[in-house]
Amino acid sequence: MLVTISGLFSADEVREARTLLEAAEWQDGRATAGHIAARVKANQQLPLDHPIAKRLGDRILDKLSRTPLFIAAALPLRILPPRFNRYEGGGTYGNHVDNAIFSIPGTALRLRTDVSTTLFFSDPDEYDGGELIVEDSYGDQRVKLPAGDAIVYPGSSLHRVTPVTRGVRYASFFWTQSLVRSDEKRRILFDLDCAIQQLTADHPGHGSIDDFTGTYHNLLRLWSET
Ligand code: NI
Repeated sequence: MLVTISGLFSADEVREARTLLEAAEWQDGRATAGHIAARVKANQQLPLDHPIAKRLGDRILDKLSRTPLFIAAALPLRILPPRFNRYEGGGTYGNHVDNAIFSIPGTALRLRTDVSTTLFFSDPDEYDGGELIVEDSYGDQRVKLPAGDAIVYPGSSLHRVTPVTRGVRYASFFWTQSLVRSDEKRRILFDLDCAIQQLTADHPGHGSIDDFTGTYHNLLRLWSET
């Protein structure tokens, strides 16, 4: 399931983030890739402990915690600190599946990458190429969103970023361990949640709202792990 979150960052917030990202010292993205991924990865990343990564990352996490659409789609248990990348001059990231498990820095915890998210910090007209292509059950999904928008997609999916042949593409990406491991089950819960929101908006006080809400929570209880 792919879900677009529009306007996670406002235009002003994007501008502020861009000022920080453009002034940062970037390193070769292969430093953080496994040996398989390193063969197809040609981009730049902020070092994980970079103060700007920490500062912007905290802002992203704060936003996500107040974004009902993200919570409904990802059902987050925990989120890895956001990372940042930069593509230019033909930079690309070939087909790969992300690592399944990451250690959470500064803790003894590990995180399973059920859900991937990319948050765009460049507008589509600033660069050519640089599409995120996610292979899902309905075929290739091509994603190139306005700055400030994010896409949520299954961590299990094969995906790539096409070469950036003009301009610079800045983005943040991060992984979430979900309360519900299965993408299929998350989709059912998301669809039910959306239907309940719609019913509540169209027919406030409708007697079935409580019944469907009860079913939602009973499914979540059945399928979640904490
Ligand atoms: Ni990836």
